[in-house]
Amino acid sequence: MSEKLSALVNIGELVTCEGEKGLNIIEEAALIFNEESGRITELGREETLRKKYDFSDITGEDMEGRPVLPGFIDPHTHFVFGGYRAEEYFWRLQGMSYLEIMEKGGGISSTVRATRESSFEELYRRGWQRLDSFLAQGVTTIEGKSGYGMELETELKQLEVMKKITQEHPVDVVQTFLGAHIIPGEFQDSRQKYIDILINRMLPAAAERDEIEFCDVFCDKGVYTVEETEKILLAAQKLGLKSKIHVDEIEYVGGAELAAKIGAVSAEHLLKVSDRGISEMEKAGVIPVILPITAFSLQESYAPARKMADRGLPVALATDLNPGSCYSESFPLLLALATLKLNLTPEEAIRAVTINAARAINREEEIGSLKAGKKADFTVLDAPDYRHLIYHIGVNSVCSVYKSGKKVKQKEKSLEYI
Ligand code: NIG
Ligand code: FE
Repeated sequence: MSEKLSALVNIGELVTCEGEKGLNIIEEAALIFNEESGRITELGREETLRKKYDFSDITGEDMEGRPVLPGFIDPHTHFVFGGYRAEEYFWRLQGMSYLEIMEKGGGISSTVRATRESSFEELYRRGWQRLDSFLAQGVTTIEGKSGYGMELETELKQLEVMKKITQEHPVDVVQTFLGAHIIPGEFQDSRQKYIDILINRMLPAAAERDEIEFCDVFCDKGVYTVEETEKILLAAQKLGLKSKIHVDEIEYVGGAELAAKIGAVSAEHLLKVSDRGISEMEKAGVIPVILPITAFSLQESYAPARKMADRGLPVALATDLNPGSCYSESFPLLLALATLKLNLTPEEAIRAVTINAARAINREEEIGSLKAGKKADFTVLDAPDYRHLIYHIGVNSVCSVYKSGKKVKQKEKSLEYI
């Protein structure tokens, strides 16, 4: 059977992100893919592939020596929300803390009110715009959390928005149910009652929907305790939802240890993680997801990502895009903070937004590296070599993006490097 193949040719550096570490770069490369299946057929040195394939049958696109990387992945976002919280950001600039704002009834509660009031269409439109912004930066898959409903109807409205968007927008969205983001205002004096509703009514309704894969809990000071988190996540696991946890962000609570104990796929934030938490995550294979733009925006000290990488943990990075603690979806800023503040090497930072990010959402067999059989999701840089992704600080170096073998983004005017 003849299949219709396409190719990217004249690639200066093909950054595959294959293998256990490093970037595994192939120079003077070509990449053959199948537009119908949206998968990679073969990749390698162009010279070698030209001997094996008849390129007159293949639609090739000349990369003019540019670097090609796997589509980037953001494994932690809250991109579907109503309203904004600019005033809170300004209060924080004057010295008020995130927790103080939360205790005053601001913070997540104020986005819950705004999200409950927003129509489906409004959330969809804003969500779409945010995905466009991700795509322009080379991001082809993100995780999206609910968590601004705190009641079944609005939680499902957020998740329905994600479902519709992912069917229509090139960026793929992996869905996480975050019904335990805060204790909603109306249950402030009866938290156990909300937890019961969450476990007995909300979780089963979420788990019924195939597209919802994960359950997350904000396990920290002032929100859910370690014991409550364990109960909620084990109930979710019984219903088939895998675990992710927001842990040890505001204070050390032993959240990383819990993530290891219950076999969570990932533990996220980790600003105040303990040494024990790190080694237990390592033993249990929990992926640490580090969110340095949040620490930057809250003016907190960064998570010990260097220590985790030194102990061999596959560190992943994410933006945490949300209207409160981190109103930013900037990948250039993420990569700058990862290398300048977390002290990850450029290679580690790139793996953290590709293959390790894929592991944090259980998609490592599908995306995150360039390999035959994986999805044809690519990010092409307007730069002489991949190092410019890190070196050109705070600037988007992406010139085109392919999702499942289709070109879905092309910068109007590309620079000439050769
Ligand atoms: O990841 N930490 C908990 N949740 C979000 C904050 C959401 C918000 O402030 O609206 C976070 O930082
Ligand atoms: Fe978050």
